Amino acid sequence: MAVKKLKKEVYEVGAVDWDRELFDELIPLPDGTSYNAYIVRGSEKTALLDTVDPDKESVLMRNLDSLDIDHIDYVISHHAEQDHSGSIPAVLERFPEAKVVTNPKCKNMLMDHLHIPEEKFIEVDDGSEISLGDKTLRFIFTPWVHWPETMCTYLPEMKIIFTCDFFGSHLATSDLYVRDKEKTYLAAKRYYAEIMMPFRRLIKGHLKKLEGLDFDIIATSHGPIYDEPEFIIDAYKDWVSDEVKNEVIVPYVSMHGSTEVMVDYLVDTLIEKNVKVTPYNLTTTDIGELAMSLVDASTIVLATPTVLTGPHPKALYAAYLVNALRPKTKFISLVGSYGWGGRMPEMIKDTLKNLNAEMIEPVVIKGKPSEEDLNKIDRLAEDIIRKHE
Ligand code: FEO
Repeated sequence: MAVKKLKKEVYEVGAVDWDRELFDELIPLPDGTSYNAYIVRGSEKTALLDTVDPDKESVLMRNLDSLDIDHIDYVISHHAEQDHSGSIPAVLERFPEAKVVTNPKCKNMLMDHLHIPEEKFIEVDDGSEISLGDKTLRFIFTPWVHWPETMCTYLPEMKIIFTCDFFGSHLATSDLYVRDKEKTYLAAKRYYAEIMMPFRRLIKGHLKKLEGLDFDIIATSHGPIYDEPEFIIDAYKDWVSDEVKNEVIVPYVSMHGSTEVMVDYLVDTLIEKNVKVTPYNLTTTDIGELAMSLVDASTIVLATPTVLTGPHPKALYAAYLVNALRPKTKFISLVGSYGWGGRMPEMIKDTLKNLNAEMIEPVVIKGKPSEEDLNKIDRLAEDIIRKHE
């Protein structure tokens, strides 16, 4: 991994993780990721902004060597999650003069997670600044993107804002800046859906806060960085808006085919009525794709057979994820088949308590769908279309 220059005395020194396949042992990474870290050299002081995942610590150290960094005054920590903070202890060991600059919440988390001693910290407030001589670092608190302690750093002399996870994308690339906009858009949307979406309303406020700053580069800590900031700002404004699209998503699982018949019939009916609809087979689907579809969809129809007395576990898992991600989806419904009874609808409804969505009457049938059962699916499709109008 090579060092990349952004502007005079501002360098990207992190690592690309081309092979990583899973984040948090949960989120698939079809395009790998990167842990971007930055050196800002002022006329008097030098700062390192974030570090890298501990697996890539040696890359960070090599990059610091290649810049002949023999002294670091400040390590700015924007976020305590270890993919950015995990190499701070190694940096402090190598540069014992360095102080960790962060907010009080992040300081406490770093002490808990990494056992960094309290005397190593300098605490900062929202809007406070430190001087590197001819460059200034101003700290902008942006909590809940996506932990409570997250913040950004603004470098006014260079018109750069460092945003850590905020606006990031899990995308391994040799490009410093976004050059494949379509690919980056999708990776950033997936990333937003997976970790930012639950905090949609707070992000609206953060976007307004950033509007007051003059910057032409957004330097994230994952994925390529933005030299056209409006590209990602506009995308975020769309994603966090209250607007939904005329789209239905159908996460489903079927054991012996009855629920699948209902799903196929619903999907075909909606397509005939010009509604965008996407089924997701929960036995194989990438949950990141499913999360991404939740960003815009008006309606979710969860489809599951009954296993013993409840939903199929994969459907319950999907419902749990949807509830945790809290999309702006306006309507929800259920379809499914059971053998002899059970509490599938109640259990799914209980799991979706966070969702501020209207329940459209579910279609839950016994055994293989009859003509009459499929008529009920017609009724569900009509209800959905009416609600979307
Ligand atoms: Fe990239 Fe929340 O850490």
